[in-house]
Amino acid sequence: MRIVSGELEIREFGTQDEDQVTAFLAAGDRTALPPVCPATPDEVAGWLAETVHQHRLDGRGVHLVMVESGSGEIVGSIGLRDADAGSCEIGYGVRAGRRGRGYATEAARAVSRWALVEGGMRRVQLHARVDNVASLRAAERAGFHREGTLRMAEWEDGEAHDLAVFSMIVTDLETAAAPS
Ligand SMILES: CC(C)(COP(=O)(O)OP(=O)(O)OC[C@H]1O[C@@H](n2cnc3c(N)ncnc32)[C@H](O)[C@@H]1OP(=O)(O)O)[C@@H](O)C(=O)NCCC(=O)NCCS
Repeated sequence: MRIVSGELEIREFGTQDEDQVTAFLAAGDRTALPPVCPATPDEVAGWLAETVHQHRLDGRGVHLVMVESGSGEIVGSIGLRDADAGSCEIGYGVRAGRRGRGYATEAARAVSRWALVEGGMRRVQLHARVDNVASLRAAERAGFHREGTLRMAEWEDGEAHDLAVFSMIVTDLETAAAPS
């Protein structure tokens, strides 16, 4: 799977990413990696060759890397998970030094489109904490519809947080194709 959209190439992780992924771990910077990522640099090769692809092989989703086309640098990751009966959850992260350039918006729009048009999904959903303004904004600009709030649905840092729920279905793609 490979998508080229705007300044980004969005593709599966591969062995060519070993040096960059190792450097992220060494620097303690995990934002550009999926939630389940290697704990230590010596696990990177095996993770890139096998573990990161298990999700797809199990039919549960994909973990994808966002690469800045001009520099070849990994700037973030985006994934589809919990695929079940045509519905899946999308999640993303962008490295601190590359935020605010529209990368999360671009990737969310492109990967959701792929999921709905080519991936056999009828619904892509997103949950974001209501205080995560950057994520809410990226979802809105990508063309997601905010459906409501799950009150106190997430427990993090010792307290409960409200989660905003967004979705995109195939009829939303016209909106998603026209960035505001
Ligand atoms: C959320 C995240 C992925 C956004 O990535 P990004 O590439 O910077 O997002 P974009 O550039 O596409 O859009 C960010 C939008 O949020 C806005 N934004 C960013 N920080 C903001 C803040 N603190 N307050 C208000 N708006 C903010 C930006 O201005 C932009 O909106 P605009 O295009 O209308 O100007 C990134 O901040 C991140 O990785 N955060 C940590 C991981 C995370 O929270 N993931 C999402 C979990 S649901």
